[in-house]
Amino acid sequence: MTAMTAGADAVSLEAGRLLFAQACDFVAGADRLEALPEPGLPEVAFAGRSNVGKSSLINALTGRNTLARTSNTPGRTRQLNFFDLGHRLMLVDLPGYGYARASKQAVAAWTRLVDTFLKGRPVLRRTCLLIDSRHGLKAVDREVMQMLDQAAVAYQVVLTKADKMGPTALREMQAQVSGELVRHVAAHPELFVTSAESGAGIPELRAELAALARQA
Ligand code: GTP
Ligand code: MG
Repeated sequence: MTAMTAGADAVSLEAGRLLFAQACDFVAGADRLEALPEPGLPEVAFAGRSNVGKSSLINALTGRNTLARTSNTPGRTRQLNFFDLGHRLMLVDLPGYGYARASKQAVAAWTRLVDTFLKGRPVLRRTCLLIDSRHGLKAVDREVMQMLDQAAVAYQVVLTKADKMGPTALREMQAQVSGELVRHVAAHPELFVTSAESGAGIPELRAELAALARQA
């Protein structure tokens, strides 16, 4: 068994496959706190720097190419987008952190909105903090991790774009990021390694998230 599949047994993999085979529909987009949908289903949020692959990961998990809008242009996702997965789990695609080309004012507004959402959402069960496996943890990622630690918001780090890395470099990056995770109290100890392109790690992440969903 490789490190990538550690912890995912056949039963939980099947539960993940079944959940993510359900219909998944866009239900709301919110660009300010007042526009957030009423809390209902358990939620999983996808956070991370601009262009890290949040929308692509949601598409890969749900097996759809165009559910969440993706782009080569950083800053594509400008609001919190809510996707209802089989009436059992809400997937929340967040605007990226650190989008340099947006105005200072816009960045401050998104950051405030995302931070307030992450800290104050009662139904939020887990935040996936996405990190590009080529770049590793950056200052802004560490700031977000500290904010989540202090607010006791449970999160797990997911490496993205693993297909862009050779096996040795990928293993080194995994070890480096894992080593840093142990110092963060709200971080799930297991590091997920994924590629929306090749599908690597997707069944394992589905299995992990299925455990948070409302029972069928
Ligand atoms: P913002 O909404 O702008 O914050 O970006 P995002 O984090 O949602 O990123 P998005 O999913 O739009 O992907 C950004 C770019 O990375 C796109 O060109 C994707 O095709 C590419 N990308 C995303 N995931 C992968 C992956 O696993 N492998 C490869 N090779 N490219 C990826
Ligand atoms: Mg996006």
